[in-house]
Amino acid sequence: MNNYSMSMEISGLILAWFLKNERNLPWRKTYEPYQVWISEIMLQQTQMDRVVEYFARWMKRFPDVTTLARAKERSVLKAWEGLGYYSRARNIKKAAEKLVKEHNGTIPENYDALLSLPGIGPYTAAAIMSIAYNRSYPVVDANVERLFARWEDIDLPVKQKQVHNHITGRVQEMMDHAAPRDLNQALMELGALVCTPKNPDCANCPVRNQCKALAAGTVAERPVKGKKNETIDIVMACTILKKNGKFFIQQRQYDDVWGGLWEFPGGRIKDGESPENTAIRELLEETELQAGSMVRFKTVIHFYTRYRVTLHSFLTDIKGDAQPKLHAALQYRWVSLEELEEYPFPAGHRQLICKLKEL
Ligand code: ADE
Repeated sequence: MNNYSMSMEISGLILAWFLKNERNLPWRKTYEPYQVWISEIMLQQTQMDRVVEYFARWMKRFPDVTTLARAKERSVLKAWEGLGYYSRARNIKKAAEKLVKEHNGTIPENYDALLSLPGIGPYTAAAIMSIAYNRSYPVVDANVERLFARWEDIDLPVKQKQVHNHITGRVQEMMDHAAPRDLNQALMELGALVCTPKNPDCANCPVRNQCKALAAGTVAERPVKGKKNETIDIVMACTILKKNGKFFIQQRQYDDVWGGLWEFPGGRIKDGESPENTAIRELLEETELQAGSMVRFKTVIHFYTRYRVTLHSFLTDIKGDAQPKLHAALQYRWVSLEELEEYPFPAGHRQLICKLKEL
């Protein structure tokens, strides 16, 4: 069979599968472009279940581009709190402002105009063009790469440029036989639900008879892995400083990790340093405040990109009215336990706040 008739056959099979098995996702009701954009950004690096939960809350808070453009950055980051990769939220906010200025608050049906927006690269621009506007742009995410690596038994890493381009070309060919919106989503959905990274459900795959890796017994070895990203352990310590019942928090600088988020002052433990001494040193370096006697509080673990962060914390009271002088942060506040809820924090600090509430 040549590529053309093969594409036609596979497209038909997976579309029929998709119509029966597609997940009932909130943005699939109307394919409203704003909703498609937000869902696609959330889905980068985040599991579907979590995205559905965050998406519903987001749409209540920011139902359209104009509301988002007018919102405070803090409330946008707060709505993103826990999803990680916070530059995604800051870019969404910047893009919304640009959309109001340049496109009357609408999402342009134009690939290049989409690409010019903060946080929108070729993948997201193609996803919006095809899923929102049903235009012929192939969308190749890790799900689609894995599908093709197995169907065609590709023995090169799918992240290699020429392999990725080959797969993109194959999706483009398939789009001659199916609506772009349906086809792109059908491919991603099949990868997410059937052709999964581990234990794929080959018995229920609509295109198992066309799968070269299944025939060759190489499904478990496809896709071939590129360089492995190892998890890196880092250990940090912070000070939860209290004065007159209020907690000291500071806002991180934008060019740093967790930019724009709030935190208790702290930092990485140096070789040979105790967590307590790190907390005291960091507090002094970052705020010029002198810690009182330190009481060990909780240690929490959270994951950030490739890092597994162990965060030790210490509670201390401060007396007198020494004023902080900031060296690492944009601004500071003294806030009550309840007010801590209003600020966006990295996951580890958020866990500490939950523990503070249990005291
Ligand atoms: N992953 C990213 N975008 C998706 C979509 N539109 N459908 C299913 N899975 C996806």
